Amino acid sequence: MSDTILATQDLTKEFKGFTAVDKVNLQVQRGHIHALIGPNGAGKTTCFNLLTKFLVPTRGTITFNGVDITHEKSAQIARKGVIRSFQISAVFPHLTLLENVRIALQRQLGTQYHFWKSDKSLSQLNDRALQLLGEVGLRDLADEVTVNLPYGRKRALEIATTLAMEPELMLLDEPTQGMGHEDVDRVTELIKEVSKGRTILMVEHNMKVISTIADRISVLQRGAILAEGNYEEVSQDPRVMEAYMGTTDGQLQGAH
Ligand SMILES: Nc1ncnc2c1ncn2[C@@H]1O[C@H](COP(=O)(O)OP(=O)(O)OP(=O)(O)O)[C@@H](O)[C@H]1O
Ligand SMILES: [Mg+2]
Repeated sequence: MSDTILATQDLTKEFKGFTAVDKVNLQVQRGHIHALIGPNGAGKTTCFNLLTKFLVPTRGTITFNGVDITHEKSAQIARKGVIRSFQISAVFPHLTLLENVRIALQRQLGTQYHFWKSDKSLSQLNDRALQLLGEVGLRDLADEVTVNLPYGRKRALEIATTLAMEPELMLLDEPTQGMGHEDVDRVTELIKEVSKGRTILMVEHNMKVISTIADRISVLQRGAILAEGNYEEVSQDPRVMEAYMGTTDGQLQGAH
C-alpha cells in the first residue's frame, strides 16, 4: 500500500517568463529517503525552495498528509512537522553542542515555557539533549564549543538540532556538499540512521550517497520530472544518462 506524505500537483515556478519548475507532480512516500537529482540548472533548488516555502509557486499545489499547504509559511509547516535542516536549524558557533541542542528543544516547546523553568524540567531537557547528541554520535563532545568541531561533525550537530524539532518530514539540502570522503560516509550513515521512523526528502549531487541510501529518486531536467524510480532504474535510463552527459556534474556513470 502506498502512503503519500508529500505531494505536488503541477507545481510551477516562473521567473519573468522563464519556467524554472515546470508542472512537477512529486509523490513522496512515507518512510522513504527520497532524492531529488538532476544536472546543473535543472530546477532542484527552486523546487526545494517551493516545498520549504522559501519561494511562492506561480501555479500548482503542495499537500502534506492530505492537507493543502500551498499557502502556508515555513513556520506553519514546521509546526506540522515539515522541517528543513541547515537553514532553520543553524547552530550557534560559540555555544557548546549541548547548549545548541537544548535551545532547539526549548524552541520546540515554544509557549510551554514553564515546562523547562524548574530544575527538574531543566535536567529532563539536558537528558533529552544528550540523547539526541548520542543519536548523531556526538555525546562525548557535548561540552565542546561548536566552533571547534570539524565540518562533518557540525553537520551532524545540525541534524541533532533538526531532530529536536521532531520532524515527520525532514528536508535536506545537499547534506554532503563540500565534504571529504570520510565525512560523506559518516553523514550518509547518519541520514540512514535518522531516517528510521521518518521521511526524508533530499537534494543531493553525490551519486554514491544516492545509490547507498535513496529508496526513490526523482530526476529533474529543465524544470520537469524526467524519470523516477530506484537507483538501478534511473541510472540505467537512457534519458537520464543523456541528461547528465557533458554536464559538470555528470557523476552518474561513475557511481558504481
Ligand atoms: N531567482 C531567480 N531568477 C531567475 N532565474 C532563476 C532564479 N533562480 C533560479 N533561476 C534559474 O532557474 C533554473 C533552475 O535553477 P536551480 O537553482 O533551481 O537549479 P539546480 O537544479 O538547483 O542547479 P544546481 O545543480 O546548479 O544547483 C536555472 O536556469 C536558474 O538560472
Ligand atoms: Mg541547486
